[in-house]
Formats: sequence, C-alpha cells, structure tokens
Amino acid sequence: MSNYFLTTPIYYVNAKPHLGHAYTTIVGDALARWHRLLGEDVHFLTGTDEHGLKIQQAAEAAGRTPQEFTDAIAPLFQQAWQRLNISNDDFIRTTEERHKVGVAKLLQACYDAGDIELDVYAGKYCVACEEYYTDDELLDGDLCPIHKRPVEYFEEENYFFRLSRFQDRLLRWYAEHPGAIVPEFRANEALGLIRGGLRDFSVSRTSLQWGIPLPWDPRHVAYVWFDALANYITAVGYGSDDERFHTWWPGRHLIGKDIIRHHCVYWPAMLLSAGIEPPAGWAVGGWLLVGGEKMSKTSGNVVNPLDLIDDIGLDGFRYYVLAETPYGHDGDFTYEGLTARYNSDLANNLGNLLSRVATVVGKQCGGIGPAPRADSPLAEAAAEALAATTEAWGAVQPHRALDATWHMIRATNAYLEANEPWKASPGPDVDAVMGDALEALRMVAVLASPAIPDTCQTVWERLGLPGRVDEQRLPAAAVWGGYPGGLTVTKGSPLFPRR
Ligand code: MSP
Repeated sequence: MSNYFLTTPIYYVNAKPHLGHAYTTIVGDALARWHRLLGEDVHFLTGTDEHGLKIQQAAEAAGRTPQEFTDAIAPLFQQAWQRLNISNDDFIRTTEERHKVGVAKLLQACYDAGDIELDVYAGKYCVACEEYYTDDELLDGDLCPIHKRPVEYFEEENYFFRLSRFQDRLLRWYAEHPGAIVPEFRANEALGLIRGGLRDFSVSRTSLQWGIPLPWDPRHVAYVWFDALANYITAVGYGSDDERFHTWWPGRHLIGKDIIRHHCVYWPAMLLSAGIEPPAGWAVGGWLLVGGEKMSKTSGNVVNPLDLIDDIGLDGFRYYVLAETPYGHDGDFTYEGLTARYNSDLANNLGNLLSRVATVVGKQCGGIGPAPRADSPLAEAAAEALAATTEAWGAVQPHRALDATWHMIRATNAYLEANEPWKASPGPDVDAVMGDALEALRMVAVLASPAIPDTCQTVWERLGLPGRVDEQRLPAAAVWGGYPGGLTVTKGSPLFPRR
C-alpha cells in the first residue's frame, strides 16, 4: 500500500478560525478522503502555529499569558474542524513537546552543517506577517504590502540561515522534480523567487521569549517560521521517533499563495541543509476573497464558517467551497453564489435525481431496486466520469473533479427525461431504466464522497447498499454494474430542500 502524507498550513491562533482557514482545510480533507478511496495509506495533518510576536501581542492584548491564550484558541480550531467533518489523523500544536524536540534537532542539524551563523539585523518588520521587508517591497514608504499597515523598525543580533547559498541547489532540485508544485503558474512564481536571488533570513530573535530556544544559544528563540515549518516533520516523529518519520516523510503540502516563499524556498533549503529530502509536492491555492479583499481580522471582513453551516448545511458549504473556485486562483465568496450553487448542483441535480429514482422505484418496481444492464447507455458516461474525476483529483483540481462527477448526474437526469419511466407501466423496460439510474447513483455516491461524505452515505443507504461508502475502493467500486439489484430503496426526505 502506498503512503500518502498530506498537510495543511498550521493556522495562527491570534483569532478564531475563519472561512479562509476552512477553505484550505476542506480542500485537504477532500483530497485525503479521495486518496483513502484509492486505497492509499493516508496520514492527514493539520494544526496550529502558536509561537512568535504576533501571538505574544495578541495574548497581551487579551490580558493572558501566551500559553493560556493559545490553550484557549487552539481548541476552537479543533472544534471547527470536527463540525466541518474534517478527517485529520493528527492535529499538531507547536507548543507540544514532540514539536519542540524536533525543532531543536532541525536547528542543530542546520547549524552543524554550517548554514546558520550569527549576524546583526536591522530592518523593517511586519508583525502580522512575521516577516522583514526591504524598502522597495513596502507601500508608501512604510506600509506592509499585505496588511497595508505600518511596519516596525527592528535592530538585533540574529542568527541567519544562509539561504543565499541554496539558489543553485534549489533550482537543480526543482528541475529534477518537474510538477512538484501545482498548478503550474504557481510553480513559476516559486521559481521566479529563487531565480530573482535569495537573501539570507534570520532564524532567531532575542526581542521575545515566546518561542523555542536555540539549542546552542538559549538567549535566542527560533524565528516563528522556522519553528512552524518544522511541524510537518516533527508531527510524524522527526526528533522523537525516527522509524515513524521515515514511514511518512516526504509529505505533500497544501498552502495558500501568500506563503509560497516560506514553503517552496525556505523550507526545502532548510531540509537540504539538514540532509532531509524536500517535500514530495506542493499544491498552492488562491484566496477566498470577501468583497474583493482577503479575509482577515485586520481587514474586519471575517466570515465564520460555522455560521455558514447553520445556514446552508454542512455539505452545502463543503460543496460550494470545493466546486466554486478553481484551486490555485482567487475566488470571491458571496451568499448569492453559495445559494446558486446549492440550488443548481445539489437541490436540482443530485437531490432531484435521488428523489425521482426513489419515487419511481417505489411506485413502479415495488420499492425494490432492479439491477443495471451491462450494456446500459449510461455505462460509457460512467467510465468517462471515473477517468475525468480521477485525473482532476490527481491534479488537485476539486472543482474539475466535481464537475466530472456531476456530468454523470446530468447524464442520468437526461436519460430519465428521455425515457420517462414515470409514465410507463411496470415491467422489464422500466426495470432496465431504473436499474441503470440506481447504478449511476451508486457510482456518484462513491465519487462524490470525498466532497460531501455525509450526503453520500445517506444516498448509499437509501439505495439499500450495506456498509459504508467511504470503505469502497477505487477503481473497482466505480466499474459499471456494481449495484446488485434486489435491494430495498427508500425515499426519505429531500437531501437538499430548495432555497
Ligand atoms: N501560520 C502560518 C502558516 C504556517 S505553515 C508552516 C500562516 N497562518 S494563517 O493562519 O495566517 O494562514 C494559513 C493559511 O490560510 C495560508 O495558506 C493562507 O493563505 C490561508 N488563508 C488565510 N486567509 C485566507 C483566505 N481569505 N482565503 C484562502 N486562504 C487564506 O500563514
């Protein structure tokens, strides 16, 4: 069985989870579920980024110690992911002991390799980004290009990671691993950063305490990004369980476009320095904008994903997030868009198909689902849907994968409209058409289950199928003819009442 280790970014705990965090996490969850369907041994990791100045300041503002503060916020992420039906296998907090020992080991490995050295840093720093900026990167002289708020001037003795030495090694590594970053235009952005020249970056701070001390010089704590990136290896045993580490690493990262530099430049260089293989891949997403702006506490346009579940239902929300925006590009979140997607794809297409099929089977087939025909006109559409859905998930393009699966739903609705079994009298002709439609729905339940798992389980049960849809394995479970016939089909209430 092949191993598939997938990660999301670990989220800053300066505020509670918002739609932007949910976006990346839902994409990760669907991808993890898809790979489980393929029979791979999946390890899906998410977590929280809890050190650094931004968190220390947020804690101070709340009148708490950083530890108390992060202990209060981190569970909000865990709870939100539970409510969003996120199937993560692990949740790492960077304040955990397993992480601290791994970070110390990684720092020491880079230091021993001669790639971390002491120097003095003077420069302008954005606390919200936890990043230094050069003058030409700033807006109007002193505004952070991301947060559009004033940067602060810092001068301190820092240890530096000698990133400038890694340009050739990184370019060579990427040349040897084409397609490691998807989509391709995001790979070009990363390569552009490397070709543009690499500056050493500071990996320690003396101006704050809230972090992991450098093992050879505890006056300094590790720079929060060095600390955070290491979560991807410390969570699977780096520094605490070598065998486990080698089982899972190298992993695959889902990231947002704003953290390409850290993940696609700093991180592989840190790993190469420490003698560790770089990641197996990166999939870079755009932002979900609200009113054309990135959602953030700083901009005051935060949408709470849990409110949206209350409004449109869990799977309605998950489906929207996955289907609406081509992964890699920015998308604009709107309530109108959410409702329109829900009505067209879920209520009118999937919901309507199930309800029609169950009604006709109830009336014309005595409630017992007939078996499909081997030479059904829908078999070809099914084979195409399987191939296209598989290709699209492989390329981390959930919106295309769902469109390919929904093609099957549309084809089945059209097939029913052409045959009008509801007008025919009971008999072999109706049975044949309904067997085909039931088989199509069975396949759709399997193929759509990574995106809308609860709904697909309900469809599975209403078709009378035993067990769990997420225990099905592809491609076998999507080969035409799997619906056995002779099962009791249940109508039930509408899956997605129209809005
Ligand atoms: N803590 C760092 C990541 C460290 S990973 C080793 C961080 N945290 S974050 O909470 O600010 O953002 C985490 C991820 O969420 C980023 O990939 C970011 O792009 C994504 N999003 C935050 N807001 C977003 C939107 N509005 N839309 C989509 N994703 C966005 O950066």
